Amino acid sequence: MDAHELKPPKKRVCILSGGGDAPGVNAILRAFVHASRSLSIDVLACHDGLEGLLGPNSIVPFSIDNVRGILPRAGSCIGCSTRVNPFFVEVPGLAAPQDRAPLIVDRLRTFRVDALVLVGGDGTMLAAQRFHSMGMPSLGIAKTIDNDLGGSDVTCGFDTAVNTATAAVDALHATAEAHARVMVLEVMGRNSGAIALHAGVAGGADVILLPEIPYRLSSVVAKIRERERLGLRFTIVVVSEGARPLGGEQVAVEAGHPGRLPRLGGAGARLARELEALELGHEVRVTVLGYLQRGGSPSAFDRTLGTQLGARAAELVAEGRLGRMVVWRDGAVSALLLPSPDALHKHVDLDGSLVRSARLIGISLGD
Ligand code: F6P
Repeated sequence: MDAHELKPPKKRVCILSGGGDAPGVNAILRAFVHASRSLSIDVLACHDGLEGLLGPNSIVPFSIDNVRGILPRAGSCIGCSTRVNPFFVEVPGLAAPQDRAPLIVDRLRTFRVDALVLVGGDGTMLAAQRFHSMGMPSLGIAKTIDNDLGGSDVTCGFDTAVNTATAAVDALHATAEAHARVMVLEVMGRNSGAIALHAGVAGGADVILLPEIPYRLSSVVAKIRERERLGLRFTIVVVSEGARPLGGEQVAVEAGHPGRLPRLGGAGARLARELEALELGHEVRVTVLGYLQRGGSPSAFDRTLGTQLGARAAELVAEGRLGRMVVWRDGAVSALLLPSPDALHKHVDLDGSLVRSARLIGISLGD
């Protein structure tokens, strides 16, 4: 290049992690920052997810110094939030929730941001779609422990969550047997029972209840009785938080409102109450695994997956290929167009190999 020729301006992006945290998000962020440096992209971080886009001081420079030593840590070094939906902001004194997206896009422009990179699940991908359609070029990176994002085979965080839940199923076996109890383990999974299915199969559960298959109490009881006939004193049930009995509803600990889904919880306790009422001759105990599924050091799989997703996202920014979502699909990193709302969700494949195998080895799915 001639000494008098001007260098093209560097691309500048802002990255955030939206929704609930997932193990492996730090690997994504680290890879994105490192690859961006190789590709001469300037990176800013927006702290605290989508909520941070509304805050006055949350957009800051993000460099290699900020991502040192984070690979083995769960969480997100730039924070997450599920509290505020920028498209439905409650403002005291105003009856209707306010859409703050236009304000956010203007704000990002004052930072001279060329693109917004959003690491997240379904809600975050919807936000990415919205910002992109408003003229703020956006790129999604798929992460969620629930593994329920349409288009993606495995989302970052799922593997670690499944390993954590499997360890819990393993640990419950001995105490269940010692007390001849029915042990119910409630795991996360709002609309997809992927965690319950994988951890249940991996841990050798007897019953697995998924949001995709409304359960019959009589089927659960039949399994308990079948085991008794075989001389087995205990039964392990893994239940998704989103599971519900046939004709019943999901249980929530906090109601939803515009722009925010209900906070689920209590599916395990409900099942335990229903079973105890039948006086089966077993005590029933419930363990809610909850947020432990989001913690723990990310598995090697989630770290390598996160690294590939983050590095590819930086390449896509450099190539100017935005309006996409970086996912793991068919054994490789893939850049799909951001999903439309009707293609946002993925459910457990009820004809898939894992469900068929579970049934064949005698696991009850409650139907
Ligand atoms: O990340 C998805 C998820 O784990 C769901 O399974 C669960 O319902 C939800 O997050 C809980 O999120 P929070 O309580 O952090 O809002």
